[in-house]
Amino acid sequence: MSAERLRVDLGGRAYDILVGAGVLASAGMEIAALKRGRRVFIVSDDNVARLHLAALTRALDAVGLTHVASVLPPGEATKSFGLLEQLIGQMLDANLDRNDLVVALGGGVIGDLAGFAAGIVKRGVDYIQIPTTLLAQVDSSVGGKTAIDMPQGKNLVGLFHQPCLVVADTQVLDTLPAREMRAGYAEILKYGLISDANFAQWAAAHAHAIMSEAGPARTRAVVDSCRMKARVVEADEREAGQRALLNLGHTFAHAIEACAGYSGKVLHGEAVAAGCCLAFDLSEQLKLCPGGTAARVRGWFSAAGLPTRFADLPEMGATEDDLVELMKQDKKASGGKLTLVLARGIGQAFVERHVDEVPVRALLRVALRRP
Ligand code: NAD
Ligand code: GLY
Repeated sequence: MSAERLRVDLGGRAYDILVGAGVLASAGMEIAALKRGRRVFIVSDDNVARLHLAALTRALDAVGLTHVASVLPPGEATKSFGLLEQLIGQMLDANLDRNDLVVALGGGVIGDLAGFAAGIVKRGVDYIQIPTTLLAQVDSSVGGKTAIDMPQGKNLVGLFHQPCLVVADTQVLDTLPAREMRAGYAEILKYGLISDANFAQWAAAHAHAIMSEAGPARTRAVVDSCRMKARVVEADEREAGQRALLNLGHTFAHAIEACAGYSGKVLHGEAVAAGCCLAFDLSEQLKLCPGGTAARVRGWFSAAGLPTRFADLPEMGATEDDLVELMKQDKKASGGKLTLVLARGIGQAFVERHVDEVPVRALLRVALRRP
């Protein structure tokens, strides 16, 4: 087993990210090293628990850590007030106290919900992320954003609560369905599109290797993505400025996901792929980046089997008005004006505040036409 360790340097809230094939087996030792004698409250979903909970509990048993588990239904709908209330009730019934640890074993849904619950129960207990999807390993498990969804939009209720450790076992991804793997790959390519054209090219050239085996390409993709995210989070933990760059494509994506009713019809990473393409389309139309850039970006996502146009997504009955209204719910919007991440080229994204609605509407009008 070869593992890499990164540090997210946030002073008193600093933590390690451990990445590698097989690192789940060392999760017990890692957790015990944080503080001995703690009890562990595991949060997972049915799919992940069936496949990987036993490996985690073995690792905890091996170092004598006691544990209980709450296994929730899989899917975006689990990031709801109802399930949050249920989970917190279970934590209180288990007499969870501030010396105990919550461990999120799952994808971004479990990570976001368990992190939020950990952040508010008893005014906050520590938690650990053990991400089991590619998307969670390269994005959601790092940076401390936790949330649930509301009918008004995604991730609208939550808090910043940093984990105290992230354990990303790249081998655990071998059981991940191919569609989920592609959705996670979208977030990897996103990092290159934001700030590193060489990484974007590398990720495009190694898409198959990243998605197909727990080898060096997958480990590099996870490590480099986490490193890029860690540097952004260190500089702007609470998204006062540059952290918003990580939301390239996300304002479009969140509107698409809301139109799809968070139903699994459109996965988050799929919406991000289509959203990044729309962001580059808009950048090109506003003459911010050279002609042909959006086509190149679209080619990379498309080669990885990701949707790049509304026509590639299931029919959602979304209108231009629906999408614009939802985009205005975005947490970055202010005074009824959109804030978008646009680009001057591949690897040259920037945050544009007070974006004029007219070109966005024009773009969506054309994009929504079905062939
Ligand atoms: P997910 O958590 O729903 O997991 C996807 C599916 O894969 C689920 O059915 C799950 O049961 C299954 N699964 C997970 N690991 C598996 C494994 N190893 N083998 C087999 N099946 C497995 O989805 P996701 O894509 O991981 O996360 C999406 C969520 O993450 C969204 O809610 C999004 O808003 C959130 N997110 C948060 C942040 C953040 O910074 N907090 C960043 C990006 C995304
Ligand atoms: N996924 C965007 C962020 O963590 O800021």
